[in-house]
Amino acid sequence: MSKAKFITFEGVDGAGKSTHLEWFADALRQRGINLLMTREPGGTPLGERLREILLNEPMHAETEALLMFAARREHVAQVIRPALQQGIWVISDRFSDASFAYQGGGRGVALTKLEQLEQWVHGDLQPDLTLLFDIPVEVARQRLANNISLDRFEQEQGSFFEKVRQAYLARSQKTPDRFAVIHAEKTRDEVQKSLEKIIASI
Ligand code: TMP
Repeated sequence: MSKAKFITFEGVDGAGKSTHLEWFADALRQRGINLLMTREPGGTPLGERLREILLNEPMHAETEALLMFAARREHVAQVIRPALQQGIWVISDRFSDASFAYQGGGRGVALTKLEQLEQWVHGDLQPDLTLLFDIPVEVARQRLANNISLDRFEQEQGSFFEKVRQAYLARSQKTPDRFAVIHAEKTRDEVQKSLEKIIASI
């Protein structure tokens, strides 16, 4: 049996990654792959409680980073690692790249501090593949405009998301082999064609 893969989906809010994630997971299941879908912050009972706090409660930027990694520590221990060890693929809606983009790029938390947390929490575990849904910030903002209620992150200004987007792109350039950058402003069909190509190459 080939090794179970750990795949993450990333992008600014409004990039449409969650819709594509469902499609991507179904396409893998149709190929007979046993997988679980999870998300961050969240993925465990404790992680989901931390998510409630993180999405709603104002806090210092470094507190935010620490809580994201605390939730992640639990997620890695309780869900991600056990699944991979049993040969189950893991598809996560966000992982540490989101902390580098949002807390690092968006909020200005020092990268060295985030790198220490990353090393601590999952030094020996990185996604096999990260799909980065990249989209111009104005387009993402327009997509979010129809949402009735926006969380603490979604309420941020365009300039915040521009920094998040640039930090994601910078991170993808650091380890280009791990990343597939998807042009998420394209039509659903076009995006699915790109995803099909990626699936064929996995
Ligand atoms: P979601 O809307 O994609 O479920 O993600 C929830 C929000 O949490 C999203 O605005 C991005 C943010 N986030 C961070 O700021 N840092 C992180 O490490 C993660 C995983 C998410």
